Amino acid sequence: MIKVTDLKRYFKTRDNTVKAVDGVDLTLDEGILASIIGTSGSGKSTLLALLGALDKPSEGTIEIDGQDVTKMGGRQLTAYRRDKVGFVFQAYNLIPNLSAIQNVMIPMEFAGVKRGERRARAEKLLEQVGLDKEKQNRKPGRLSGGEQQRVAIARALANRPKLILADEPTGNLDTETGKVIVNLLHDLAKTEKATILAVTHDAEIAKQTDETFKIQDGRIVGNNKNHNGKSLSEEAKTDG
Ligand SMILES: Nc1ncnc2c1ncn2[C@@H]1O[C@H](COP(=O)(O)OP(=O)(O)OP(=O)(O)O)[C@@H](O)[C@H]1O
Ligand SMILES: [Mg+2]
Repeated sequence: MIKVTDLKRYFKTRDNTVKAVDGVDLTLDEGILASIIGTSGSGKSTLLALLGALDKPSEGTIEIDGQDVTKMGGRQLTAYRRDKVGFVFQAYNLIPNLSAIQNVMIPMEFAGVKRGERRARAEKLLEQVGLDKEKQNRKPGRLSGGEQQRVAIARALANRPKLILADEPTGNLDTETGKVIVNLLHDLAKTEKATILAVTHDAEIAKQTDETFKIQDGRIVGNNKNHNGKSLSEEAKTDG
């Protein structure tokens, strides 16, 4: 479980202070896919950066498995980013001259996983996100946008993180592919027992997640549990 309390991030500029995140409280359960929706500049990316310990809050606490991330020192933070958090970005951020499978193996290399084990887990993850053997050996430039995003998701899962942070993971994809990716994230939250928090501009995408937080001017102004009704994974299975 992740518990965020009174989280603030103020940016001081020369003549004013931008309250990018301004007193956020939220609790995220294990195994859920949650979404953050809000207009441009509302604080979504800043909040994600704080949760991933890429940035330090001005105030507040972030507890994950009972540990307060905001109290961690340098070495603990490095371990936290490497072992507890997975990141997925809109622009995939894959390394262009490495194959899909090599991209997925990289975080495991940093974490000191043995070579043989790295390959086996990368293969399994890529299969799980729907990439066959032949595509696993392709470089990102020879994969479609949706396929590249699958690779990015597999890479985010590499070190079995408790928390996966996704900034507009469907932003570069067409609506249909976007839906498939959200379904995939939805299933992965359950199977990997992880918490996934995805930022989106798109209300339709948000509706497909378990829970939606609406952010405005750095504050949470709404929190909806979404009742999808049917299992979305049924649709995902029919995707080629
Ligand atoms: N390093 C910074 N210095 C000063 N202001 C910043 C900085 N980073 C973000 N901001 C400001 O904080 C506010 C929130 O920015 P943030 O990037 O979190 O928005 P966002 O909701 O992710 O927007 P978008 O949908 O456009 O990506 C904005 O007003 C932005 O200009
Ligand atoms: Mg943003």
